[in-house]
Amino acid sequence: MYSWMSMSSSRKRLFIKTYGCQMNVYDSERMKDVLHPLGYEPSDAPDGADLVILNTCHIREKAAEKVYSELGRLRPLKEAKADDGGMTIAVAGCVAQAEGAEIMKRAPVVDLVVGPQTYHKLPELIAKAHRERGEALDTEFEVEDKFDRLGNDRQVEGFTAFVTVQEGCDKFCTFCVVPYTRGAEWSRPVDQIVAEVRALAAKGIREVTLLGQNVNAFHGEPPAGREADGPWGLGQLVRHLALIGGIERIRFTTSHPRDMDDDLINAFADTPKLMPYFHLPVQAGSDKILKAMNRQHTAEEYIAIIEKLRAARPDIAISGDMIVGFPGETDRDFEATLDLVREVNYASCFSFKYSKRPGTPGAAMFNQIDETVKSERLQVLQDLLNAQQISFNEAQIGRTLPVLLEKAGRMPGQLHGRSPYLQAVHVEAPEALIGTIIDVKITGASRNALSGERVRTQQDAA
Ligand code: 5AD
Ligand code: SF4
Repeated sequence: MYSWMSMSSSRKRLFIKTYGCQMNVYDSERMKDVLHPLGYEPSDAPDGADLVILNTCHIREKAAEKVYSELGRLRPLKEAKADDGGMTIAVAGCVAQAEGAEIMKRAPVVDLVVGPQTYHKLPELIAKAHRERGEALDTEFEVEDKFDRLGNDRQVEGFTAFVTVQEGCDKFCTFCVVPYTRGAEWSRPVDQIVAEVRALAAKGIREVTLLGQNVNAFHGEPPAGREADGPWGLGQLVRHLALIGGIERIRFTTSHPRDMDDDLINAFADTPKLMPYFHLPVQAGSDKILKAMNRQHTAEEYIAIIEKLRAARPDIAISGDMIVGFPGETDRDFEATLDLVREVNYASCFSFKYSKRPGTPGAAMFNQIDETVKSERLQVLQDLLNAQQISFNEAQIGRTLPVLLEKAGRMPGQLHGRSPYLQAVHVEAPEALIGTIIDVKITGASRNALSGERVRTQQDAA
């Protein structure tokens, strides 16, 4: 007990480097939150930091190598800090999960390793590391409820926030490490989510993005008094969160086509706060490749979902993820991907070359595709996706869009905000309006941003 108190008595510097997905960005924020009571203040650089955390992502190839080279760069900084209180180095996240013991062996500069499910134990691990450097190792999944332990005093900046509602994945796509590193699919109880979103709203948050690796598989314990409902799906959760005053916009990511149900599709029709922008990865357009990927749906079934969504909410825009060069992909299979992309017409879409992830079934497949073929296909696909993104953005010219103003822009007098479709929007408006949603008439568009003029309402004119 005494050591905790002495640790909190002085201010210490914490540097977190975050790799990968939004889930990791969120996890890093949580790490800052749990460490704040121990006196750790976030810092912008590792030099002179008391604690450095690399919050890693395992989803792309060479992720582990990147972490090792970063650790190499940190070594002299740690040596320089040796006579000034020392520097503790932690590796967190999915690489930690996958390679825990190996990291400690290969990089003695690391003091501790924390798996993605156990960062609420960071304070305890840090305290231990101060006593016995290099001995702590904690990457085991635990079934306990980490959200109960984190408290509600997270620091909020800005007007948008991520809220984890679901973790893990049971889909086992043959290219993906998530089911191994993040474990079994698990949903957070509705009451906990509501409490967190209420607290965020009270702190000025206007937009929440519900996060989960397979978020539309959500099946959370119903709120107190509604036990008879049985588990709530994501559509029910979204409608319930839309009732919270102050919350103006709701988004969620990432969804799987197999878990789309009519209730969630209908939520897009009946819940205006649910933004008309939906990320639904498909990965490939050929049924043969979808089967080899174990996606558990066909291209036609995916298109049918998109059509239903468009019928429910005519202004909905679709984004996605695509992989080219999965083992066995022929030119014809790749053509099927291009056909699907033309049919869907994406507002934006991430695209990747397939990369072997050790331990996944895809890595063991014998019919791997040549790197040059993968690169050529990626180029063709990206040219098509870029053209679609530009024409989607240009189609906004002349429209009036509600824009959530987030911060000052680069030019004097200019503010930066987001459209319902997550497009960056630049507009001239007084700084007092930051944190509000204003109507903007779009006058310009590029691939990555829109610009426009503020439309004054009658209220403004009065
Ligand atoms: N190779 C290429 N892309 C991958 N993704 C996941 N695993 C791999 C892999 N082994 C992509 C998928 C997923 C996104 C988050 O990353 O498109 O939807
Ligand atoms: Fe990975 Fe998503 Fe497939 Fe789950 S659904 S295995 S997270 S790609």
